[in-house]
Amino acid sequence: MEQPTTVTITGAGGQIGYALLFRIAAGEMLGPDRPVRLRLLEIPQGLTAAEGAALELQDCAFPLLDGVEITDDPVTGFDGANIAMLVGARPRGPGMERADLLAANAGIFGPQGAAIAAAAASDVRVVVVGNPANTNALIAAASAQGVPADRFSALTRLDHNRAVGQLAEMLDARADEIERMVIWGNHSATQFADVSSAAFRDVPVIDALAERLGGATEAVAWLDDTFLPRVAKRGAEIIEVRGSSSVASAANAALEHVRDEQRGTPWTSAAVVSRGEYGVPEGLVCSFPVTSDGSGYRVLEGIDLDERGRALFDRSVAELVSERDTVRALGVL
Ligand code: NAD
Ligand code: LMR
Repeated sequence: MEQPTTVTITGAGGQIGYALLFRIAAGEMLGPDRPVRLRLLEIPQGLTAAEGAALELQDCAFPLLDGVEITDDPVTGFDGANIAMLVGARPRGPGMERADLLAANAGIFGPQGAAIAAAAASDVRVVVVGNPANTNALIAAASAQGVPADRFSALTRLDHNRAVGQLAEMLDARADEIERMVIWGNHSATQFADVSSAAFRDVPVIDALAERLGGATEAVAWLDDTFLPRVAKRGAEIIEVRGSSSVASAANAALEHVRDEQRGTPWTSAAVVSRGEYGVPEGLVCSFPVTSDGSGYRVLEGIDLDERGRALFDRSVAELVSERDTVRALGVL
């Protein structure tokens, strides 16, 4: 058995936290050989819910679970953290404008970034789930003096999985038969779910869709009119149907994001800090096709985007730029 890995989860008393904790403790994220020590970071109002989850974790008697600590102090919460999953965020309230939401979240992710810099392990890796995830990650990275920016990422794996789920249904396929899906841009309705590299049983997805739908024109129409808006607006669809935002699918995506970053994957989508790849301004936290050899996500370069795809990607990058500028105007960056 290896030394325990310390995993800090913020907002651990919330819905996604509850869907995440037990799967991590069971070894689904880091594998059957890596014991985990869980740190649950909450605000005072969320502490009792986190304490309840901790009681249940104890009652599961997971062999890999080395301990659970609960706190509302960020420095204590991130002390020695190897992995930080930033789930807790301020939801949009009545009458709140986007700038208000960004300001409220800057008040959370700025101090948390600073606490990560002060207390986390030197190998810490951070994924932001709480919305607006990309810009919250940008704020946390900018506030974590001394921690390399490439340790920070934001979740677009849920969008990636949603896209694969839609394609698998249309092609009557298993999800693992769809490869090389790409989500570009922001985790928002401006994202671009790009199938142009994707394959189904080694056949380009676009050709498989044409075969299924009776022609290339029909395939393009389905992609434009049904697939793209469905994936981009799936979060809103879930809120409308369930009455609250996605929970189990979000927790699953967060777990897969960390699992693949830590254990390796040839290809997935994640929002990472741009180094100027694909012309995206440096420093923005943007979704790209990525790979990992187990030592962190790296952008897969050289993927062709046609003119229309490029325009869709640019629209989402423009939204990220505007979020960054709003946060800058607030004096946060
Ligand atoms: P929730 O309201 O059930 O739980 C959030 C928890 O965070 C609460 O327990 C709250 O007390 C806690 N919290 C708030 N501020 C905190 C802080 N400063 N420090 C620590 N904890 C804090 O919400 P949820 O359903 O678990 O969703 C959490 C977030 O994830 C939301 O922002 C939601 O929009 C987002 N989300 C993101 C994705 C994605 O794909 N990126 C998908 C689904 C949901
Ligand atoms: C989701 O994608 O399900 C979440 O980000 C919630 C939302 O507001 O869309």
